[in-house]
Amino acid sequence: MLSFSGISKKYIKDKIKDTPYNLEIKSVVTSTNTIMKNRTLKGECEFSVLVATKQTAGRGRMGRTFYSPAQSGVYMSVALKVKDGDNPLLITTDAAVCAARVLERLSGKKAYIKWVNDIYIDGKKVCGILTEGAGNYAVLGIGINVFNPQRGFPEDIKDRAGAVFEKKKAHMRENVISDFLIEFLRVYLKRDKDIILKEYKERSMVVGREIIILGSDRNEKATALAIADDYSLVAKKENGEIVNLSSGDVSIKI
Ligand code: BTN
Repeated sequence: MLSFSGISKKYIKDKIKDTPYNLEIKSVVTSTNTIMKNRTLKGECEFSVLVATKQTAGRGRMGRTFYSPAQSGVYMSVALKVKDGDNPLLITTDAAVCAARVLERLSGKKAYIKWVNDIYIDGKKVCGILTEGAGNYAVLGIGINVFNPQRGFPEDIKDRAGAVFEKKKAHMRENVISDFLIEFLRVYLKRDKDIILKEYKERSMVVGREIIILGSDRNEKATALAIADDYSLVAKKENGEIVNLSSGDVSIKI
């Protein structure tokens, strides 16, 4: 079976053979999420998985880009069918817990969740998640900096971004992909809401910290108090007002 820039399809397929996933690996794409969203509009493709070794237009939340160089990261999208009443936010939060579990297991390093969709290890963002709706589907996109990029991270993200592993290890990207897919399927099918919510809260790296709520016209200082049961972030602004943030982004004050 073909391998692209070191990602072996056979290795992954052997590990996920008892799952309904239909795996495709491409070398260079614009954005696996964009491609998968277009596919969902054309027909049945639940549990289709598209992995790329490099993205030229990787997308993050809030219109940001996601740096996706070759040979160091994993960029993957999964098509999931949604029914009326399903909350797509739960796909992101399920995926965040699954990614944290898997990266922690493989690296031996504690993985934290920065509300709402980022995974941090050793104080650096190593993984981002972007779930997007597309007709009857949700497309779960996940980008993981498994190793450090050959030329390092670009200037504008180099203080925040990090890699899960300092040194390259054989088949580590394949293990990250297959272990995540297996873990996510288990959680997604069982929908073990209470356990996931509890773990999401325990892994939070924002609660108890001074934060900055990033607004479209201005930023506001606040203290993160808790993750609520609907995964909103409860924060206390400087003027004493308590707010429940259900979307948007915060940064943590260093
Ligand atoms: C974020 O950090 O705000 C989310 C980043 C999500 C990146 C992944 S990589 C695979 C998929 N394709 C994309 O264009 N984005 C997601």
